[in-house]
Amino acid sequence: MRPRVRVSRNSQELARRAAEHVCALVQKTLSARPRFSLALSGGQTPRLLYERLARPPLRGRIPWSRVHVFWGDERWVPPRHPDSNQGAARRAFLGKVPVPRANVHPFPVHAGSPAAAARSYERTLRRFFGPGRWPRFDLVILGLGEDGHTASLFPGSPGPAEKTRWAAAVDNAPKPPRRRLTLTLPVLNNARHVMFLASGASKKHVLRRVLRPTENALPAQRVRPRNGSLVWFADRAALPARRSDR
Ligand code: 6PG
Repeated sequence: MRPRVRVSRNSQELARRAAEHVCALVQKTLSARPRFSLALSGGQTPRLLYERLARPPLRGRIPWSRVHVFWGDERWVPPRHPDSNQGAARRAFLGKVPVPRANVHPFPVHAGSPAAAARSYERTLRRFFGPGRWPRFDLVILGLGEDGHTASLFPGSPGPAEKTRWAAAVDNAPKPPRRRLTLTLPVLNNARHVMFLASGASKKHVLRRVLRPTENALPAQRVRPRNGSLVWFADRAALPARRSDR
């Protein structure tokens, strides 16, 4: 089955619609449960979305004290490094909204090694979600790499095949920085809601391939929540209208 794709005219409209989707999920979840667990994507695409969460009207609609923020992946750099996903999210919105410091759970890039950091993050997840069960995020936001990677799960690397670990260290990633940390596919696929963002002509070919229902070779194609929703947000540059769509 082809996943749901919401196509916007441009990156700004994509960001607006995606941010509204995030806000609607937060409100719906918190009407029934005490807290909302969110795993953020890295990369450039989510920046416009994140910035909208820090501005009216959405900023005031989100009960930030009940939102817990995690990351789907991280680069093995300090938080102040320009390549840090944590640093990018703090600049874009986390530093501008009243989310309690204790609710923000970054990968521990100060740990002795990426492997130690992955183990430590699993302990963080276990403390939050409870022992003995797989983490079930309320929402995971993901990007799409031109090679079909998502988070830091790259084609041809061991990460996508990981079935037991919740977080993994990545060495020699094809997209620099080469050393990274990532949540694994079983965690991503245990989420209640997953939303992908794909913007720009550079994603045109990979997005067309990823959306083919007959293939699941690429890591991004293997994100299929077992008991959750999956929605793609794309702009026309990434998903040009086909004659049949017109
Ligand atoms: C990362 C991301 C990665 C990203 C894609 C798309 O840390 O690099 O998590 O999976 O989402 O590579 O990146 P852009 O949004 O910059 O195109």
